[in-house]
Amino acid sequence: MNSIVVANWKMNPATLKEAKMLFEATRKAADAAKGVSVIVAPPAIFLRDLSRSYKGRRITFAAQNAHFEQGGSFTGETSLAQARDAKATAVIVGHAERRAGGETNDDTRKKVSAAIVAQLTPILCVGEQKRAQGGEHFTTIKEQLRAGLADVPAAKLSKMIIAYEPVWAIGADKPMSPRDMHEMTIFIHKMIVESHGQAGMNVRILYGGAVDETNALEMISDGHVHGLLVGRASTNAFKFKHLLESLA
Ligand code: PGA
Repeated sequence: MNSIVVANWKMNPATLKEAKMLFEATRKAADAAKGVSVIVAPPAIFLRDLSRSYKGRRITFAAQNAHFEQGGSFTGETSLAQARDAKATAVIVGHAERRAGGETNDDTRKKVSAAIVAQLTPILCVGEQKRAQGGEHFTTIKEQLRAGLADVPAAKLSKMIIAYEPVWAIGADKPMSPRDMHEMTIFIHKMIVESHGQAGMNVRILYGGAVDETNALEMISDGHVHGLLVGRASTNAFKFKHLLESLA
């Protein structure tokens, strides 16, 4: 199975011109990276421009967020149908930076199920704020998974992606150790098997947080994840090219 690399550009770059240049570099790097599926998540305002010009197969597009309601008085929001109309095939749900801005577990539940109805792949982000000796982080992850997947039928789990992103590793110098990620991969699958049955094993799991060209391969091979969610390194054309090369 191809590895998945999500390029989460967050609120970058500043102009459409720069977004097109970054996308062109990403396209070239993705074309050369056999065995890697790249999902580019640009700011919503650039999504349609970038997707319109792209004719290849290696890259698909994601919205960084979308509202669960179909339409109405939600100033500043983007709907799932609008994201789909702009050629997104996936949507990030519950990113730590949105949870910090007030997005709740219950919001993630509504977004995940609305995304499945809209035929978009939900990329549900989970992750604890910090780690303590007592293993409290497992309780946090369990609750985020329970809420986010509460309305997902077992048959749809193969459409889901879970991105485990420990908040303390996002924007940090170093990622979590691949060995600890392996433990978390097993835990996440176990939790979903408990709630949804054996189909829980079909959920794809990504790691995110301080991934770059120096640590990506090790995280996939030793963390036993299907792929990576990359922030900073995805907006640096040089780093992202080397990251994809390391996985190809
Ligand atoms: P980072 O961000 O790669 O810059 O640490 C990851 C993320 O927030 O998705």
